[in-house]
Amino acid sequence: MPDARGDRRKGSDRRSPAATRAAAAGHERRSGGDRRDETAWQPVSIEAGSSTSASDLALVAAATDARTNAQAHYSHFKVGAALETADGQVIGGCNIENATYGLTLCAERVALVKALSDGHSIFTRIAVVADTDAPTPPCGPCRQLLWEYCGDIDIILGNLNGPTGRVRLSALLPMPFDRRLLE
Ligand code: THU
Repeated sequence: MPDARGDRRKGSDRRSPAATRAAAAGHERRSGGDRRDETAWQPVSIEAGSSTSASDLALVAAATDARTNAQAHYSHFKVGAALETADGQVIGGCNIENATYGLTLCAERVALVKALSDGHSIFTRIAVVADTDAPTPPCGPCRQLLWEYCGDIDIILGNLNGPTGRVRLSALLPMPFDRRLLE
């Protein structure tokens, strides 16, 4: 067996004996990305040409529009969001990246903080759009913040061709930590 520095084996060849046994037994730990084909989190898909409501189309169009301002110089993954208020206003947001990477703001959070700072407080839906076939659901921190300030809203997912799916926030964040647990 080569020493550590000379060990250029890849992937499963580098696993410890315990990890190799776990993999063989089907207990291998997989990353989030590898789990994308599982159905639990998947939004209800919207077939092309099916009766997507006009308001979903409009909200996705607003998110697509907001996406054009994305500052995605590092990931090149542009995202747009459009948050609808209870009185029908739509606040757009896009992702804003930064050279330190860690300060990245997601499109959903930008839309949310814009809306909150303008005095909006009741929200009904949010649309999220990226240029991908697979839906782009809100990341973990965005789910937490959306839950805090929007409650169990509808999330409309889409790409540049229009809406592709819909999911309730409670399906993405099934056991939330929120202010009720602080009382
Ligand atoms: N991003 C969003 O803006 N929203 C999402 O729902 C997923 C990820 C952004 C963050 C970062 O700028 C880029 O997409 C790649 O992760």
